[in-house]
Amino acid sequence: MSEAGRFITFEGGEGAGKSTQVTRLADRLRSLGLEAIATREPGGTPNAEALRGLLLNGFAEPLAPASEAMIFSAARIDHLEKLVRPALARGAFVVCDRFADSTRAYQGALGHISGDFIDTLERLAVGETMPDLTFMLDLPAEDGLSRANLRRGANRADRFESEAIGFHRGLRDSFLKIAAAQPQRCVVMDGARTVDEIADDVWRLVERRFLGAAA
Ligand SMILES: Nc1ncnc2c1ncn2[C@@H]1O[C@H](COP(=O)(O)OP(=O)(O)O)[C@@H](O)[C@H]1O
Ligand SMILES: [Mg+2]
Repeated sequence: MSEAGRFITFEGGEGAGKSTQVTRLADRLRSLGLEAIATREPGGTPNAEALRGLLLNGFAEPLAPASEAMIFSAARIDHLEKLVRPALARGAFVVCDRFADSTRAYQGALGHISGDFIDTLERLAVGETMPDLTFMLDLPAEDGLSRANLRRGANRADRFESEAIGFHRGLRDSFLKIAAAQPQRCVVMDGARTVDEIADDVWRLVERRFLGAAA
């Protein structure tokens, strides 16, 4: 658990609507005069953004799955130390686009890395700084990919977007399994609804949990 602030993450497959909802939630918190940091993984700090480049352009892929996972963790350590923990310590909301569940789901869906290895990396990189609340945006893999294709336009698909459809289906299953295993932290949201419908549901929950609103 975080100390003073609140750590909220959005997870889900490509095109599920994570980045859209991170922006909406952070804007809404700020409109109440609250401090809210919108950030993302991999990335969020200059060093971690540099590692993001290596991870998403495929440079890290031939190194071996374990090495790739360790680069994700190296980026996470920098992001947590320099941005997330200081913000939480001063009482801010930190709203993050992907976090440790993505490492677990993506490496799990690729099938290359044991659960033990991922558990150890998570313990070392994340420690006590697990999210207070995680929204899992759930959508059939095909629908998310076609949204991601539209968004990308003429740009090349990144290292993970270009995996086969079976990979993306496995990813969706992995996120749902994580949510089922940790129901106190994770809330599955139907990502097929409109942006406004999802944002309203997200807001209701955040208000109730963290802002003292009545249910
Ligand atoms: N609920 C939604 N319904 C329809 N389109 C959406 C929805 N949420 C996001 N989009 C659009 O789909 C694309 C992917 O959304 P994005 O938030 O970037 O997804 P992610 O960050 O999960 O990959 C964007 O073009 C975005 O405008
Ligand atoms: Mg995104």
